[in-house]
Amino acid sequence: MTVLIKGVRLYGEGDPVDVLIAEGQITRIEARIGSEAAETEIDATGQVMLPGFVDLHTHLREPGREYAEDIETGSAAAALGGYTAVFAMANTDPVADSPVVTDHVWHRGRQVGLVDVHPVGAVTVGLEGKQLTEMGLMAAGAGQVRMFSDDGICVHDPLIMRRALEYAGGLGVLIAQHAEEPRLTVGAVAHEGPNAAKLGLTGWPRSAEESIVARDAILARDAGARVHICHASTAGTVELLKWAKGQGISISAEVTPHHLMLDDGVLADYDGRNRVNPPLREASDVAALRQALADGVIDCVATDHAPHAEQEKCCEFANARPGMLGLETALSVVVKTMVQPGLLSWRDVARVMSEAPAAIVGLPDQGRPLAVGEPANLTVVDPDAGWTVTGSALASRSDNTPFESMDLPAKVTLTLLRGKVTARDGRSPVA
Ligand code: DOR
Ligand code: ZN
Repeated sequence: MTVLIKGVRLYGEGDPVDVLIAEGQITRIEARIGSEAAETEIDATGQVMLPGFVDLHTHLREPGREYAEDIETGSAAAALGGYTAVFAMANTDPVADSPVVTDHVWHRGRQVGLVDVHPVGAVTVGLEGKQLTEMGLMAAGAGQVRMFSDDGICVHDPLIMRRALEYAGGLGVLIAQHAEEPRLTVGAVAHEGPNAAKLGLTGWPRSAEESIVARDAILARDAGARVHICHASTAGTVELLKWAKGQGISISAEVTPHHLMLDDGVLADYDGRNRVNPPLREASDVAALRQALADGVIDCVATDHAPHAEQEKCCEFANARPGMLGLETALSVVVKTMVQPGLLSWRDVARVMSEAPAAIVGLPDQGRPLAVGEPANLTVVDPDAGWTVTGSALASRSDNTPFESMDLPAKVTLTLLRGKVTARDGRSPVA
């Protein structure tokens, strides 16, 4: 199948060009390519072409909680959000702690075919924090697991974390840590600060995150290993990342769109949709996270797409399950919080949403340059479009977006995975 995309600006720069895609690759980039060259022609005049996005942090809920999301609905959401690869977290039921589960996730993702679904393996058996999983078996399986995480739960035993880092170093795989000292977050449902105090919500201190980030940076340093920090949420974490990187420690970090956009002021109406782990912080943290992403102290954006069913969210705040949808709104939130204020250019968006995450996890065919001969994993964005978020209209099986009814800028209009159209004008083949 050949596709001709007309009138795009690569990375939002320079003059518009036509891009021809055949057999999964970019075969021509020229000022004007005649229509006869392709079976499908797509007019994208004035739009921005970027490499397909890579999400290091997605919860697809399969196996076990398919009522909230499954690999098919989550893949559609990913394609509509401009993603060509996602990493599906291991906190499923059963837990992805063996090749039986990780291979299933990989095969099912291939079968659906809308996005490359890379399984994340658990660090510890059953996410129980006690015994390391057979990472080597999962890495060698069909799913070729390259990232391990107990996300949702912190690997809090320092000896287990140390061994995980050492073992992962030998296998060439990545450990991603959900940084939360559990002794400091017992019963916590909101950021510990004046807002939580006023609302009567049990607080989750910044130190719960920062103490683990500091500890794991030191463990990685001494193991000569690398560590990735999931969903950085505090100004203090930013300072620790700066320090660790300055010391030459192999540490990387992600920030979520919701932590770039929202602060704990939105908790005032006790809407369960705003409950998330780590919690929404204060405006000063939001500002520090934005600056850190602009400066490269935080490497990339990851969604922490966490679908939950209506009954799990629409209840008393402290009983609502933590987590927010993210895949279909990520690009627009990054444009609103980072591009419009002048903190990132479109080329930077390619870096934080595609190139950096692909590099962190070592994906050879993602985050590639927009150039002839490269794999056609691509996203096209209309920078001038705007839309109003409606949870029920999203492709995800769940509706729990914290951006409900908000007007957001920019829209993904086209996504291609190895030259195949996986989303176009708000529709994907299974959405
Ligand atoms: O809010 C969250 N939801 N944070 C996590 O770490 C896990 C996630 C989930 O699985 O729902
Ligand atoms: Zn997490």
